[in-house]
Amino acid sequence: MIEVKNLNVFYGREHALSNINFSIDTNTTCAVIGPSGCGKTTLLYAMAGLITPRSGEIRIHGQRLRGIRKDTGIILQDYGLMPWKTVWHNVALGLVIRKLPRDAIHGRVTAVLKELGIQQLKDKYPVQLSGGQKQRVAIARTLAVRPDLLLMDEPFSTLDALTKEHIQNLILTIHRHNPMTLVLVTHNIQEAVFLGRRIIVMGKASIKHILDNPTFGRENVRDKPEFYDMCLKVRKYMGRV
Ligand SMILES: Nc1ncnc2c1ncn2[C@@H]1O[C@H](COP(=O)(O)OP(=O)(O)OP(=O)(O)O)[C@@H](O)[C@H]1O
Ligand SMILES: [Mg+2]
Repeated sequence: MIEVKNLNVFYGREHALSNINFSIDTNTTCAVIGPSGCGKTTLLYAMAGLITPRSGEIRIHGQRLRGIRKDTGIILQDYGLMPWKTVWHNVALGLVIRKLPRDAIHGRVTAVLKELGIQQLKDKYPVQLSGGQKQRVAIARTLAVRPDLLLMDEPFSTLDALTKEHIQNLILTIHRHNPMTLVLVTHNIQEAVFLGRRIIVMGKASIKHILDNPTFGRENVRDKPEFYDMCLKVRKYMGRV
């Protein structure tokens, strides 16, 4: 379980997160949604151990978070690929840093490239890739280290509608095949409802509402009216002051 208790984060005098409380069950998914500047990225960074809160605590599987954790994967908005490395070497990066043996690296990189359908891109450089392809490489690189907690910050915001749906489907499939807890930050309501078993609606620096999403994971859910009912529900909470 991931538990966030009475979390307060400041940037100088700005109170960026004010008394945040929520929990996420192990191996489920959670979407964090809210307007620009409300503190979504700040919350994700705090959960990644990249920023230290003024007060409160984050517990991951019972352990209090203190700094970066090796089993947490994070995918940032700009993908963070190394332009001078090929797709293969970008995906292998985390494993090289963790000093895995060469054979193990080869096996894992091959498997994850296949899972994401990007084997044919392995010798290309990031500059030669489309947005959706870069996104998949960034996901592959993070999955290669087999995180138990995956944090994603607006991962699909720059993709066109169809590529976006395709990669959202892919994320759901990956989540089904690889047990991990997924936390996804977005400002898109449909994305939150498609990918979040639990949905946290944020207002400025605080949580407005937490919803459980019974439509999560249903087959062809985008074709079902209950999906759009759930979207409307989230929208209502976003509008409330
Ligand atoms: N490094 C920083 N130093 C000072 N203030 C910051 C810093 N990072 C963010 N802030 C401020 O904290 C608040 C929350 O920012 P954050 O980036 O978490 O918002 P967000 O919800 O992710 O927004 P967006 O949807 O635009 O990405 C904003 O008012 C922002 O200006
Ligand atoms: Mg942000």
